[in-house]
Amino acid sequence: MRIKDKIVVLTGAASGIGRATAALFAKEGAIQILSDIDEVGLRKTYEALGEAQERTTIMNVDIRKPEEVKKMIERTVDMHGRIDVLIVNAGVVRVGPVEDFPDEDYDLLIDVNLKGTHYTCKYAVPYFKKQRSGSIITLASVAAHIGQVAHANYCSTKAGVLGYTRALALDLAPYNVRVNSVSPGATDTPMLQSDVAKQAKDRGVSYEEVKKEFEKEGVMGRWAKPEEIATGILYLATEESSYMTGADLRLDGGWTTR
Ligand SMILES: NC(=O)c1ccc[n+]([C@@H]2O[C@H](COP(=O)([O-])OP(=O)(O)OC[C@H]3O[C@@H](n4cnc5c(N)ncnc54)[C@H](O)[C@@H]3O)[C@@H](O)[C@H]2O)c1
Repeated sequence: MRIKDKIVVLTGAASGIGRATAALFAKEGAIQILSDIDEVGLRKTYEALGEAQERTTIMNVDIRKPEEVKKMIERTVDMHGRIDVLIVNAGVVRVGPVEDFPDEDYDLLIDVNLKGTHYTCKYAVPYFKKQRSGSIITLASVAAHIGQVAHANYCSTKAGVLGYTRALALDLAPYNVRVNSVSPGATDTPMLQSDVAKQAKDRGVSYEEVKKEFEKEGVMGRWAKPEEIATGILYLATEESSYMTGADLRLDGGWTTR
């Protein structure tokens, strides 16, 4: 077991990459605090964990709300005395041309992807500093590195996550706390499926046509499975990546090598 008895806090655990990460970390022996805004999805993630349920706590948390995030972190420390790994995974996507982009959609992107990332780190950082150990992992994206058609608003938030992660790594290095990001490429989750469906609708083409375009972006010609991203997150969470901080792990099927 690669992360036995480590205390892990994971946001966005009700779906996609978060759910696959929860399953992998459970198999590897972690003690987990799984959170999400989606209570039903979160319960499904929990129910699939089998025996590891006894090492798991679920919490309904909206990362846009600082008081809820603060409570999640405080409860974790009350229960377990520390946090070893913080995975800031919850995120949203909205796509469309900038001239028609609804202001409320941009507010949502900023509130969840940027401010939510900040709140999640903000309330955990004092504990990490006190412990003088730990690993924080954020979810950036291939969209933080390259432009994507109709993704200007989403790209701007994920590029922000990348900058936030790098800078926080400098602040926490003297405390022996590592901070890294993962940048997935097209990964087969409800988020990507909804993104493709919206683009297909906007352009009046089929879902399959847009999916094929996305598949061609990576040099491997297929989408990632969420489990293939979870293994990268696990690597950053363990001592196997002990000399890595301020870095970004690109799991993009070669998309950014073109
Ligand atoms: N799927 C991809 O192709 C892809 C590519 C690059 C980056 N990412 C990033 O990976 C992360 C996970 O994405 P995914 O594909 O698994 O998406 P997903 O939609 O399957 O899962 C995201 C989860 O975040 C939760 N969430 C959304 N808003 C929240 C809030 N305010 N508070 C708490 N939870 C909230 C959702 O309920 C959901 O369970 C995201 O940060 C995403 O931007 C995904």
